[in-house]
Amino acid sequence: MKDFKRTLITSALPYANGPVHIGHLAGVYVPADIYARYLRLKGESVLFIGGSDEHGVPITIKAKKEGVTPQDIVDRYHGIIKKSFEEFGVSFDVYSRTTSKMHHDTASEFFKTLYDKGEFVEKTSEQYYDEEAKQFLADRYITGTCPHCKNPNAYGDQCEACGTSLSPLDLIEPKSAISGSKPVLRETKHWYLPLDKHEAWLRKWIVEDHKEWKTNVYGQCKSWLDMGLQPRAVSRDLDWGIPVPVAGAEGKVLYVWFDAPIGYISNTKELCQAHPELGSWETWWKDDSTRMLHFIGKDNIVFHCIVFPAMLKAEGSYILPDNVPSNEFLNLEGDKISTSRNWAVWLHEYLQDFPGKQDVLRYVLTANAPETKDNDFTWKDFQTRNNSELVAIFGNFVNRALVLTQKYFDGVVPACGELTDYDQQTLKEFADVKQEVEKLLDVFKFRDAQKEAMNLARIGNKYLADTEPWKLAKTDMVRTATILHIGLQIAANLAIAFEPFLPFSAEKLRTMLNLKTFNWNELGHIDLLKAGDKLGTPELLFEKIEDAEVEAQVQKLLDTKKANELANYKPNAVKELVSFDDFMKLDIRVAKVLECTKVPKADKLLQFKLDDGMGGRTILSGIAQSYPNPEELVGTQVCFIANFATRKLKGIDSEGMILSAENSDGKLVLVSPSKLVTNGVNVG
Ligand code: MF3
Ligand code: ZN
Repeated sequence: MKDFKRTLITSALPYANGPVHIGHLAGVYVPADIYARYLRLKGESVLFIGGSDEHGVPITIKAKKEGVTPQDIVDRYHGIIKKSFEEFGVSFDVYSRTTSKMHHDTASEFFKTLYDKGEFVEKTSEQYYDEEAKQFLADRYITGTCPHCKNPNAYGDQCEACGTSLSPLDLIEPKSAISGSKPVLRETKHWYLPLDKHEAWLRKWIVEDHKEWKTNVYGQCKSWLDMGLQPRAVSRDLDWGIPVPVAGAEGKVLYVWFDAPIGYISNTKELCQAHPELGSWETWWKDDSTRMLHFIGKDNIVFHCIVFPAMLKAEGSYILPDNVPSNEFLNLEGDKISTSRNWAVWLHEYLQDFPGKQDVLRYVLTANAPETKDNDFTWKDFQTRNNSELVAIFGNFVNRALVLTQKYFDGVVPACGELTDYDQQTLKEFADVKQEVEKLLDVFKFRDAQKEAMNLARIGNKYLADTEPWKLAKTDMVRTATILHIGLQIAANLAIAFEPFLPFSAEKLRTMLNLKTFNWNELGHIDLLKAGDKLGTPELLFEKIEDAEVEAQVQKLLDTKKANELANYKPNAVKELVSFDDFMKLDIRVAKVLECTKVPKADKLLQFKLDDGMGGRTILSGIAQSYPNPEELVGTQVCFIANFATRKLKGIDSEGMILSAENSDGKLVLVSPSKLVTNGVNVG
């Protein structure tokens, strides 16, 4: 690797149209923070840049919905986001916002430079215009029927029913979401960044020169390049954003994806102006000896690996990123996290519900980080990792070492006597940890790095369990002293190794150990504490999380699911009328489930043995996926159609049809009488 003098770490600027959730944290902010803390601990020169992304259409839509201004929206969420990041220990050197004057000036100037250099192409095209509202319509502001699936509520950029991405011109019967009127096509002029002209150097820079990028990032870039790059509009007809700073551009603003990444530059400027000791912002952005890293989520890859580098190159005086460590997505309890569906664990709520437990979430998100593929967060896993890893291994070890020292040596680090073979072996094992963790952090493998750091605690825990100083203390104080001396050195190592990952606990541990100065390079040393050093008061590092606490969180999610189902439920049209006689033709009855089992080699079918009050019958029903534990149904009552012609399924005669209703999540729910009734009676 090149010899860099400083590292500039940027993390994606979150949209200020909602609070931050665990998906953002796992994807971007936790890994970026670990990395920034790690470099600082090594004594390197590093800046960690953050901020809110406060422009773009979703913010204007939210404002309109609530009847407030976009500024109100971004003020609200910037406040919530900034505060929750601070409380969570994300160690930004600056957290600013794209509505700042500094940013408006910087982005405006950046555009102007490219404009003056002739780096844009001007193009006029036809776009939908709302004559009532007197404005051009952003893609999201146009709804209509999806040409693919006929969903009547598709958006101009995407149909959420079938997932197809659309252009507004694809929509059948387009409607303005602002006035409801039918939009008309009108000519409008925009500025485009001709990415096609940048394709050749981008290809060489990424495909040949950055083979070391994570495969998910490299692969996505390569497939974009292979498809061929097209010019991209960098302006929009919108009244929220940074005005396009050229004559004849009234009513037009910079596209949010043009201004937002420039926010990294503006925020660096703001920081360096307030702290001259950091050097000039230009050293951080224009000197080859700066290593720039963009931490982002996978939906941002193209903007950070292709569009922003093209902008920087077109400007001419900036460096390009050295790496773009992007993660995949984190799901929540099996479903995609969604701000609009409120399917998320919100950081500010977590901090309220679990005060003082920042590190538990940090630990779990890293242990489960979606580094190479999408991953799932579950509250059960959260609880297990806390109780059986943080509490049972890390916390338990540290507590034993400290409490025993308190008990036998009055809280003073005892002297180290002669080392046994077992002591030597233990020390050798943990001497390698530093190198291992570094090797992993250097290639952004945070979950493995944390696992390796956790091995230190495992080694310590095992050491105390094997040597049993609490027993030895009765007979051999010299040996007890040596064991606790080693135990305390391991604890001190943990306090350093975990500073990047679990900064709150690491600090607490340092206080307990009275460890004043520390740095990464001391990791692996066994003289971090000296015999005779006085320790602080032992406290519990982690506490058990009870079932009730995680059950409450799961209940909160179930409530969300229910609310969404109600909000989204659209009943089918009522079928053609039938006469009473027709209705009476169906013989619907109640029966009790005697047996219920999966049908071999059929993943949908359950086989029911029913007590139908008439000697019993067998019915197959296609609900296996909704009832993974069919034995639970034994003893319940169901409704079935008794005069349905017998059908053979998988070689079994099915004598009727069991009634069920489909929920909005696609799960089938059996229809049962609300009170016990006699088996075999008619329903009608
Ligand atoms: N706001 C964008 C998102 O949440 C990220 C912007 S990153 C920046 O997806 F580079 F534009 F700042
Ligand atoms: Zn569709």
